[in-house]
Amino acid sequence: MKRFPVIEMDGITKSFPGVLANNNVSFRVYPGEIHALLGENGAGKSTLMSILAGLYRPDAGYIKVKGVKHTFKSPRKALTAGIGMIYQHFRLVNNFTVAENIILGTKNSIGMNSKKIEKEASEFASRFGFDINPNAKVFQLSLGEQQKVEIIKMLYRGCDVLIMDEPTTVLTPQEVKDLFNTLKLMAAQGKAVVLITHKLHEVMEVADYVTVLRRGEVVGSNRIEEVEEASLAKMMVAHEVVYNEVSHQMKAGNTILELNNIDVYGDQGYLAVRDINLSVKSGEIVAIAGVAGNGQRELIEAIAGLRKLNKGSIYLEGQEITNLNIRQRLARGLNVVPEDRIGMGLVSNLNVLENVILRTYYNKEFLDGMFIDYKAVHTYAEKLVEDYNIFLSDLKHPINYMSGGNLQKLLLAREISQHPRLLVAAYPSRGLDIAAAESVYNILLQERNKGTGILLILEDLDDIFRYADRVAVMYEGGIKQILNVADTNIDEIGALMLGTQYARKLS
Ligand SMILES: Nc1ncnc2c1ncn2[C@@H]1O[C@H](COP(=O)(O)OP(=O)(O)O)[C@@H](O)[C@H]1O
Ligand SMILES: [Mg+2]
Repeated sequence: MKRFPVIEMDGITKSFPGVLANNNVSFRVYPGEIHALLGENGAGKSTLMSILAGLYRPDAGYIKVKGVKHTFKSPRKALTAGIGMIYQHFRLVNNFTVAENIILGTKNSIGMNSKKIEKEASEFASRFGFDINPNAKVFQLSLGEQQKVEIIKMLYRGCDVLIMDEPTTVLTPQEVKDLFNTLKLMAAQGKAVVLITHKLHEVMEVADYVTVLRRGEVVGSNRIEEVEEASLAKMMVAHEVVYNEVSHQMKAGNTILELNNIDVYGDQGYLAVRDINLSVKSGEIVAIAGVAGNGQRELIEAIAGLRKLNKGSIYLEGQEITNLNIRQRLARGLNVVPEDRIGMGLVSNLNVLENVILRTYYNKEFLDGMFIDYKAVHTYAEKLVEDYNIFLSDLKHPINYMSGGNLQKLLLAREISQHPRLLVAAYPSRGLDIAAAESVYNILLQERNKGTGILLILEDLDDIFRYADRVAVMYEGGIKQILNVADTNIDEIGALMLGTQYARKLS
């Protein structure tokens, strides 16, 4: 029997100032299929799907849904045609209940009271195998639960094609499994799913079909049975990916960072960090594993000097720094690469030169009398760009035109060039493709091998096992356990991240 595609996109071209994000792309999706859209960061995946979902308009090309041509003027119009997209940042109303988020705003909701809304939401959700608490407020939910609500909301609005943009980034390993089961269930009921990802193992695990984008163009499209992981990796990056052999045999030296019984308040006035004891030694990488939102942000801010301790003390190389400010800590070799590359780390409308001296413009090497010596800054920036293989068009262009990977390298380069004793980096590979992530980690490993103590905040378990020497699992503000990476496994860390105990097999 011939099957008809639910989506046909043909000749789609879209450019942004200075970038051809999609170039003559054709893309087909069939009902009942989980279709992975794979590509490096910046390959054009989000752009292509945002066009399909009515957020952007293409410069050329057309979209057909069930054989009928459409020009979507808004996401709402696309949804009416059956296409729903779940973005990387959720768009739920935080102080509405789960049921209200699902039902409100649809025609059905008119005249329903809250009891009816809850009943309707529960019944609808259970049809797709979801078990929800309809009267929980969205802000009470974990990111994984919020994602479920987004999916149900789209299904309730009658979507036949569900697009998910990098949905697993915010999930624990168990939640990823649950999500994939849900997607399979949806596909079995005839829905089509487009899964945007840069993670190969996810493609192999859940997809029926894969389309690979590179630099805005389709470089391959095939049934999953017909492809191999290695060839997909090659297609994505156009060169062989070589994983480094990372030795965990580094001899850790003396203690660089010591946290003693620290408590830190979060913005909402609750204790975000509870009684943490942790040390990082010279030449070791300690990873803090945990689902985002378990106090990691507050912990880093406390170490950096951005947030006061409520209790406890911090020592750097044996000297107490508890009451020192950011600049004083920096002067002693404590460098932090924050979670928000843009914002906390870099300033988007400043250029590369301005960004590299953002925090050290007052150093003698960049001053000529009372003024900034731009020639010295230029030489310094050029060396960073060269040493760290950063791609950019011009040192004087605002950095908001640079890709995530290059921004991350720039941030690391800036911090490392100040010869840190302790380097703290939060989610250094978040949003990066394999090649970029690999080069970021190589930079960190080199730094570790020079004897710097490194504290990484990570959520990707693969990265923890590949790069860290020790792992501390953070849950609800506390550290559940600190383990040598060589003595633990993914399931144990995953269980600790969820706050449950993992039953170690007795051997
Ligand atoms: N709104 C935008 N304005 C300018 N450039 C953009 C915009 N959205 C994406 N781009 C650029 O288009 C290219 C493709 O981006 P994107 O579709 O987000 O890639 P992917 O989702 O595969 O990482 C990148 O170079 C990106 O910087
Ligand atoms: Mg994207």
